[in-house]
Parts: sequence; C-alpha cells; structure tokens
Amino acid sequence: MTDRCGRNITYLRLSVTERCNLRCRYCMPDEGICKKRHEDMLTEDEMIRAVEAAASLGIYKVRITGGEPLIKKNVLSICERTAAVDGIREVCLTTNGTLLPELAVPLKNAGVERLNISLDTLDPDKYARMTRGGVLDDALRGIEAALSAGFSKVKLNAVLIGGFNDDEIPELAGLTVRYPVEMRFIELMPMTDGAFGPEAYLPYSVVLEALPSLEPQPEDGGVARLYRLPGGQGNVGLISPVSAHFCASCNRMRLTADGRLKPCLHSPLEYPIKGLSKEDMILKFREAILAKPAWHGELSARHPSGAERNMNQIGG
Ligand code: GTP
Ligand code: 5AD
Ligand code: SF4
Repeated sequence: MTDRCGRNITYLRLSVTERCNLRCRYCMPDEGICKKRHEDMLTEDEMIRAVEAAASLGIYKVRITGGEPLIKKNVLSICERTAAVDGIREVCLTTNGTLLPELAVPLKNAGVERLNISLDTLDPDKYARMTRGGVLDDALRGIEAALSAGFSKVKLNAVLIGGFNDDEIPELAGLTVRYPVEMRFIELMPMTDGAFGPEAYLPYSVVLEALPSLEPQPEDGGVARLYRLPGGQGNVGLISPVSAHFCASCNRMRLTADGRLKPCLHSPLEYPIKGLSKEDMILKFREAILAKPAWHGELSARHPSGAERNMNQIGG
C-alpha cells in the first residue's frame, strides 16, 4: 500500500519483546525497564495475525526486533510462522548477538535469512560500560556463530558516540576486510531518556574523514549509504537519521511488543491492534499507513525524538 507521500510500504519491523539481557545506554534508561503486564503484550497468534494483515496490504519483508528478540522463549516459532505467511518473502532479525552461539543455526532453520548484530566497540571494558555489564566475548562468539551458520548476509551495527568509539572507526571498519560482513555506523538518535550530552552525537561524515580510502558502492535500497575499503569482503554502511534523514524513501511500519502500530520511529502516533480480528487489524494498518508523517521533524540533543518511548520499546 502507498502512503499519502507516495511511499510504498513494504517493510514491517516487528518487536517481539521490550526486554533485553543488556542495558545499552543509548537504548534503555538507567533504571532498566518497567515490566509491563503480560496480558498487555501481543500474543504469538496476534503477532502472526498482524503479519498476515500486513502481507495483505503488500508488506513482504519482516524484521524481528526487540528489546532483544532472542530472549523471547517462542522466538523460533514466531520466525517460522512469519516466514510461512503468504506474501512474506524475507524474514530478518536484529540482535545483540549474545545468544547466537546457541540460536544461530535454529534461526536459520526457522527461515531467517539475514541477521543484523550490534557491535559498538572491540574493547571489552568499553563494551561492559556501554551495555551496563555485557561481555564482549559473548557478542563476538555470536557473530562467529552467525557467519558459520550460513546466513545470506550479516551486518554489524555500531552507534557512533563521540568520546566512546570514534577512535575505533578504522578497527571496526577493518572487520569487513577480515570477515564477509557489512559494518554500519549509525548516528546516535536522541531518544526521550537523553542519556548523552550534545558532544556524544557525531555526524556520519566523521567516518569518511577517518577512512579516506573508502570507495562508494551502488545503493541496495536500504537506509545505509554504502562504501568499501580496499580489499574489503563486505561494505561499510553509513546510516544518517540525524544529519541527512532518509524519510522521503521510508518504506517501514513498526509494531511494538505491546501491540501499537507506529507509522514513524520518531512520532508519538500509535495505533493499537491488541485483541483485534485480522479484518480490523487491516483497517488499523491502513489508518496508520495513511497517517505516516512526511518526515520525523527536527532531531538533535535539544530536540529529542517525539516518540515518547525509549528504543527498546520500539525496536530501532
Ligand atoms: P536492513 O536494511 O534490512 O538490513 O535493516 P535495517 O538497517 O533497516 O535494520 P537495523 O535493525 O539493523 O537498523 C539499523 C539502524 O537504522 C538502527 O539504528 C535503526 O534505528 C535505524 N533505522 C532503521 N529504520 C529506520 C527508520 O525508518 N528511520 C530511522 N530514523 N532510523 C531507522
Ligand atoms: N540511536 C541510534 N541507533 C540506535 N540503536 C538503538 N538505539 C539507538 C539510538 N539511540 C540501534 C542499535 C541496534 C539497532 C536496532 O538500533 O545499535 O543495532
Ligand atoms: Fe520514516 Fe519516520 Fe524513519 Fe523518517 S523517521 S525514515 S519518516 S519512519
């Protein structure tokens, strides 16, 4: 289905839980998360019904997100049933990677084609600080497990944070030479929690300055601008939601774990679908798609996201 700005909506980001086994500072507040009541969250059947409703309107790609989707007990069943919905051509998943040593192969068998894995630093102490207690080696073993499980693509996501990982840009990008991965640098989006000051935000251009040998590559229709290092097996991607937003070509809808359809990551607009029949879900999807804002509005440390949720409650 096409929205009022002529954008064809083909991609659903389905958050299956708000909870996580890490506590990344850019995603969750200090005090952790207030656990919602079980009966307020979507059931597995409701999630699949929502995917069916989405597919009937022309959505063909689903990305499973969280929180951390892999802590959800029935995540494999959700992936498998999503991949089996008529019209769904691609199921992908975004994860912090720490549970992939056990789950990479089962996910592949459940029909997940591609994985995006967070990796903000290669320094164990910094990793523990940014994730409030995570173990870098768990994520690295997860990435290795993903590579040996044979996913068609593995992308690594690093949120660029001034004074934290800007000194590691060459080392992180260098992973694309050693491994067949795409390494993406993402501009920090100021969410409602405001964990960082203005100095933490860095525009994507710092990556181009740090890596003068990057060569532009053809676009693949995703949100990242693509480059490659000499000898690189995979691309380096730059995602610039703040300095050069990509709203004009946005093809996404989001569904939160508590059953709200979000037409835009940074808008407070939400359309509840919990408890609805498939027909009523289709109507809500239509309503939400037609309400999709033209762009996310100003985004900066002084003008944080209008989402009124932290990232773990949206799914990125
Ligand atoms: P593929 O293109 O399928 O590989 O995935 P993706 O880049 O859409 O997904 P991923 O979950 O890896 O997200 C990467 C980063 O892009 C995260 O920081 C997201 O919050 C951000 N992002 C994804 N979609 C949007 C969007 O529609 N708007 C904005 N502003 N940011 C987005
Ligand atoms: N700004 C930019 N990216 C973020 N992510 C989570 N929170 C933020 C934020 N505030 C990224 C994570 C994950 C992806 C889904 O979203 O790195 O890889
Ligand atoms: Fe689309 Fe909203 Fe994302 Fe902009 S912020 S790219 S309008 S979902």
